[in-house]
Amino acid sequence: MPQDRLLDALDAHVETLESDGTAKGEELIVTGVVPGTDSRAPRFHLEGYGEREFLRLNSNSYLGLAFTPELLEAEEAGARAFGVGPGAVRFISGSFSAHRDLERRLARFHDREEAIVFSSAYAAVLGSVVPLTTGDTLVISDELNHNCIINAVRLSRPARKVIYRHLDLEGLERALVDGEGTARRALVLTDGIFSMRGDHAPLDEIMALAASHDHRYPENVVVVADDSHGVGAFGPTGRGVEEYTESPPVDVLIGTLGKAFGVNGGYVTGDARLIRFLRESAPTYIYSNPITPGEAMACTAAVELVDSSQGRDLLGRLRSLTKHFEEGLTRIGVETIPGEHPVVPVMIRDTARTRAMVQHLFDHDVLVTGLTYPVVPRGDESIRAQINADHTMEDLDRVLEIIAAFPN
Ligand SMILES: Cc1ncc(COP(=O)(O)O)c(C=O)c1O
Repeated sequence: MPQDRLLDALDAHVETLESDGTAKGEELIVTGVVPGTDSRAPRFHLEGYGEREFLRLNSNSYLGLAFTPELLEAEEAGARAFGVGPGAVRFISGSFSAHRDLERRLARFHDREEAIVFSSAYAAVLGSVVPLTTGDTLVISDELNHNCIINAVRLSRPARKVIYRHLDLEGLERALVDGEGTARRALVLTDGIFSMRGDHAPLDEIMALAASHDHRYPENVVVVADDSHGVGAFGPTGRGVEEYTESPPVDVLIGTLGKAFGVNGGYVTGDARLIRFLRESAPTYIYSNPITPGEAMACTAAVELVDSSQGRDLLGRLRSLTKHFEEGLTRIGVETIPGEHPVVPVMIRDTARTRAMVQHLFDHDVLVTGLTYPVVPRGDESIRAQINADHTMEDLDRVLEIIAAFPN
């Protein structure tokens, strides 16, 4: 049956995204990777760009682990031992020792009783927030939370929801006070690191607020933190924002295995009874395949590496590179938001100039992500530079030169 009227409607939708400036546009296709050296980060070949070699300053692979021999060997050993795919969801016959080893290792890394692995952090957030939200739950969420939290709240059916201004703890506290008597449970949802800006939630203060208003809710105030950009990359030993802010353990900690840990997948860690509940209730866990056994073994190797002196050295290197880049921006008179996280915003504060700067960097073989209105508010337009531990000072100096040469 011809689908012409439907396809016209779909076209109209995409065209609206394009004219609004929110379309993602055509994807760049990586066709090859040139390994890095001591003075040069890995370079990427892109389809349609011949032999040009691009520096990737927009990767979440903060520790640069993608080609680490221990991880490659672990993934290959997993594939050889168990096959390339899990073949079933976890509760049918898709639970391999590789998955359980990873869960135990993640729990130990975060000093929790248990962990549960999902196919991605997105799936982990949906899979935990939706079943934890009953019809008697108040949901309180930071306005700049990641899309996975926003969609999890949309899919949930809370008694009430309150969105507070970014990092506005007074707004959060007011919601906790006002919500008394309207809900049995309060769920406070926050990103750990906010990926657009590289800033972080004060988890220590959020936990203190939760503790002081806990008595108002028969089923507790529950703090859920998605620290996908923090775990592995932030805090003295890579435990993320919790460690950086010296916070007590949040109730539900969610992380990804696809950013600093360099592989793929997501997880939730916490109390053993919470994790038992999620194994029985999280639809994205119960009805969807897990990561492959090979990926799980590579992830375990990644956690092992991060939790070693080699990992701490990499974190130290990542921090020095980040600082070097931030100081360089200041030196050439470019505004940034200072912070230790390897997301370094280059504040341009104008949509046309941001687009032109992204193009200028691309013309000089550097890949960055531009954040323009309406993705960010007018006046906050910026370039999100992401530093990785396999970048080098030479690479970053070159990027600074390219930025400095951008016509005013
Ligand atoms: C805060 C946050 N949560 C979750 C995700 C998704 O992670 P994954 O790719 O593991 O689904 C991202 C990725 O950008 C993120 O920034």
